[in-house]
Amino acid sequence: MTLFLVATACKVAPPADSVPDTGSVEQGMTADTAASPSTTVLPTERPLLVSPAEATDLDPAPDALRVVLVAAPHTWMAGEQLVDGFAYNGQVPGPTLRARVGDTLTVELDNELGLDTSIHWHGVDVPFAMDGAGWRAAPVAAGGSFTYSFVLQQAGTFWYHPHFDTAHQVDRGLYGVLVVEDPADPPVDSELVLVFDGAAEVEAGKEDPTVDPTPSRWLVNGLLEPRWEPPSGQSVRVRLLNASNAGYLALEDVRVIATDQGLLSGPESSVVLAPGDRAELEWSAGPDDREITAVPWSLAGPSAFPAVPLFGVAATGGLAAPGEVSWPFSGDPPTPDPGRTDLRYTFTGSAENGWEINGQTWPEIAPDVVALGSEVVLEIRNVSPAHHPFHLHGMVFEVLSVDGVAPVARRVEDTLDISVQQTVRLRIEADNPGDWMSHCHILPHAEDGMMTVLTVQ
Ligand code: C2O
Ligand code: CU
Repeated sequence: MTLFLVATACKVAPPADSVPDTGSVEQGMTADTAASPSTTVLPTERPLLVSPAEATDLDPAPDALRVVLVAAPHTWMAGEQLVDGFAYNGQVPGPTLRARVGDTLTVELDNELGLDTSIHWHGVDVPFAMDGAGWRAAPVAAGGSFTYSFVLQQAGTFWYHPHFDTAHQVDRGLYGVLVVEDPADPPVDSELVLVFDGAAEVEAGKEDPTVDPTPSRWLVNGLLEPRWEPPSGQSVRVRLLNASNAGYLALEDVRVIATDQGLLSGPESSVVLAPGDRAELEWSAGPDDREITAVPWSLAGPSAFPAVPLFGVAATGGLAAPGEVSWPFSGDPPTPDPGRTDLRYTFTGSAENGWEINGQTWPEIAPDVVALGSEVVLEIRNVSPAHHPFHLHGMVFEVLSVDGVAPVARRVEDTLDISVQQTVRLRIEADNPGDWMSHCHILPHAEDGMMTVLTVQ
């Protein structure tokens, strides 16, 4: 049996089926041993955790997904708090869009926000005109609409969000997941899509979207500490998105099978989801209740605060956990570093004085220009006092090294956390022409200047 998420707040108790559900959770010491597994009995009154509703496909063709997204003001419950926010199709998180590699995705955005907006397809290498970035391209005006359409060439868990008035609109509820399935993947019994957002951020962002609070409580699909009830004995593919403006979500003792750009070269056991990051876990549902917590993090890295509760798992049926799914991990080694550097970014600044890339503050930047078809080695040094998740539009990147050390296996991402004083070297195949935004995905940092443009022509 394999456990994928470790209960860090649990009590030693007889198996759940031998005691009445007392509806209480006691805090206790972790006492997991093979001989006497500890069990958490989750209170049943916690809200039930389910995936966000999926969008309806308006195109009957098998290789096309056509969806209408209406962005409009929406009052919603962020945990216990009523928020005067926004939503796509009246739901937060927005509808999950589910397609397969090779499908054409067509999304008609109807803007009823009363504000200009756009949709950016985070992590998807779209043609520049479909990127939704509020740079060059005009936003979709209030009352207007725009149809995005492109072919999905990458498998993975992606997301969509405005890229105009970004920190404010994302904070208020405009975000959703785009799942692109690879038909070659082995089937699982079910999937769970989880979107995390900082619970306090939503309200904080109302007055001042540039604040970057470190969440001490997380919304999971809009709920505080909900209860997930997977059938035991089943394998679940859990897709995670950190949609928060500034919060880090760290999970340990998990079976991570994928990050931003689909399946990893091999499974890993921990993941740090910076703002904008995605990951996928394989969950083998066993009979025991568990409490899932996040390792506390701040913009300065792991912190000494207590573990943050996320959600509880109360599997039904009392069956043993199934065996591992055999994912087609590539096992590929990293590309050797070519040794030269084509482009350098130095991250500097501070919360007080704003954030900069190469001493430039958005929007007063000079784009870097690279040749279409070239291989670009980008070296990023973070000499500022905070972590910054770097995100590039239009093209993915491979991590060549972190502080001079190559990853153990090939690692392709579109969002990568860069810690304080760290240097990372990235390899980009500049195969997508456009004026691509390149920025920190802590949205208040991006708005405070940490954004530039990489022109591919
Ligand atoms: Cu998720 Cu430039 O964005
Ligand atoms: Cu930043």
